[in-house]
Amino acid sequence: MTPEQTITQLKNDLGSRLCILAHHYQADSVVRHADILGDSLELARRIDGLDAEHIVFCGVHFMAETAAILARPGQKVHIPDPGASCVMAEMVPTLLAEKVLAALNRDGARIIPLTYVNSSAAVKAVCGRHGGSVCTSANAATMLRWAMSQGDGVLFLPDANLGRNTARVVGIDPARIERLDIRAEGTFIPAADRSRDLYLWPGLCAVHAKFHPEQIAVVRRDEPGALILVHPECDPEVVAMADGAGSTSYLIKAVAEAKSGATIYVGTEWNLVNRLAERHPDKNVRPLRSVMCSNMAKITEDNLARTLSGLDTAEPVRVDDDIARPARVALERMLEACR
Ligand code: 13P
Ligand code: SF4
Repeated sequence: MTPEQTITQLKNDLGSRLCILAHHYQADSVVRHADILGDSLELARRIDGLDAEHIVFCGVHFMAETAAILARPGQKVHIPDPGASCVMAEMVPTLLAEKVLAALNRDGARIIPLTYVNSSAAVKAVCGRHGGSVCTSANAATMLRWAMSQGDGVLFLPDANLGRNTARVVGIDPARIERLDIRAEGTFIPAADRSRDLYLWPGLCAVHAKFHPEQIAVVRRDEPGALILVHPECDPEVVAMADGAGSTSYLIKAVAEAKSGATIYVGTEWNLVNRLAERHPDKNVRPLRSVMCSNMAKITEDNLARTLSGLDTAEPVRVDDDIARPARVALERMLEACR
């Protein structure tokens, strides 16, 4: 049997005991088997309503971890390749995050940690324990406003680009934002004072870092009528030059709503852009540059088939209870604030 046939048969056999979730950056060969396809926010939101005993997450590891934290007792979350990490999520060592927060607060300030969902469960737990929360690219502005209302300022991690782009939407003066120097175990971290509202962890996405202002300038010069849409993990200069920026769901909606015949350049992961081009043959949908997330690409039809074949004996994604509990608090604050 081909992997496709194996998956189809196992899905039939398992019926409602199984639910396959996939992120928009997955390849078509994986997406075609998904019961639920979504952006990070939608996928996190859907966990609560699932009755399936086995949830198979086709995405990167932090997404499966988030699902495992939000799943009910007895539900098992699996990821076809546990090695599918996220470069950005790995830019925050948990102990360093604790140290940096303590250093910011050392003169008595109350800085609220807000982590992008692209982070480990342990970092989400730090946020949960210190009055903070989580955001996705779809709700970052809502959650940044929420976090600003909870204390004297916000530590946003790990994505400095998303932090700056969201600060712009929310109206934070750039002079009141500080990008932290986290070298030397946090030795250079200043104590928070009233001159700053937002402290940015210096992380980034290696995929979205490949979009540059020059690429937009070339499109503007050669095709002045083209629409340019980008993901907010891109450099703030890129976002400022684009016609629109938002989560993967935003990009999908914006392309769907564009006029027939429009030329649209999309600055995000190639699998999604390619799917949009196929879905909208009446529009010219093109990648601003063809970049793939090598970690998302670790999930394949082959390892999905293998995962489904061994579900009953496989070791599911586990998050220790002392991390899962405060991480759930942080995630629930987000789900509550964005109801
Ligand atoms: P969203 O689907 O939430 O926009 O996230 C994009 C992303 O980079 C996931 O890793
Ligand atoms: Fe992480 Fe970037 Fe890949 Fe998203 S696209 S999973 S942020 S490396």
